[in-house]
Amino acid sequence: MDTANQLASVGMFQVLKLPLGFIRVLEWLFAIFAFATCGGYSGQLRISVDCMEKASSNLSIDFDFAYPFRLYQMSFEAPMCEGMRRERVFLIGDYSSSAEFFVTIAVFAFLYSLTATIVYIFFQNKYRENSRGPLIDFVVTVVFSFMWLVSSSAWAKALSDVKVATDPDELQLLISACKVQTNKCGSVYGPRWSGLNTSVVFGFLNFVLWAGNIWFVFKETGWHKGASRLAGGATEKQSGTFNQQPYNQGSFDQSGSYNTQGNFSQASEYSQVGGPTSYSNQM
Ligand SMILES: *[C@@H]1O[C@H](CO)[C@@H](O)[C@H](O)[C@H]1NC(C)=O
Repeated sequence: MDTANQLASVGMFQVLKLPLGFIRVLEWLFAIFAFATCGGYSGQLRISVDCMEKASSNLSIDFDFAYPFRLYQMSFEAPMCEGMRRERVFLIGDYSSSAEFFVTIAVFAFLYSLTATIVYIFFQNKYRENSRGPLIDFVVTVVFSFMWLVSSSAWAKALSDVKVATDPDELQLLISACKVQTNKCGSVYGPRWSGLNTSVVFGFLNFVLWAGNIWFVFKETGWHKGASRLAGGATEKQSGTFNQQPYNQGSFDQSGSYNTQGNFSQASEYSQVGGPTSYSNQM
């Protein structure tokens, strides 16, 4: 009961100043960027087919494509340069599995990191009640790190293929009229890739965040304290990083940089100074 009051008095949201909580917030923000830039993408390009008989030319053939990049289902109409005849040209390739995998991981990572943030803030005591909370958190974090790496790599590869498949110069090769020397085909403009490039960058950034957070979740499991616990009956240390004396015996006091200022872990002195202020100085 005391610990709960203590937590309440220093403010629940201080948890977000711990690396674990802070990185969780970045995780769900970056996840939003990842799935929004990929899932919300649509690209436009324009090709011109200049037939020898000018009447059948079309100098602004527009082609739009979008997530999930099931390109073989997307088509445009091009003149055949034979009177008014036109043909429907289909693109080649299906990159939906990589794109959808990436977005799915991003959405679930978003949901998990947002939930975890809420749990850290409002249910710290529950989280620290036994080792199961941190244990599950640890396993999920490891799995998501791996998934971010795999899905970002797959999506990066798929994106480079999408860029080739939707290159206006490549699309001209699919138009039969363009195979005839006397007709002139050209690209007016190609798609912009900045949005999708951003999604790949955020995918790998997310991998870095999640992989980095493995360490901070690992500290919550208390496994790294196993040795000291055996050595010197440090039952106090066993108790949670959030739960009891969060700013004195916090996760931080295990990290190298914080250790150099070991004096701070003297509870009385520290709490007089005022947890939040001194703590933010550490950041
Ligand atoms: C050229 O192609 C576009 C579709 O990309 C079509 O909307 C337009 O009507 C065509 N123009 C002519 C002159 O056929």
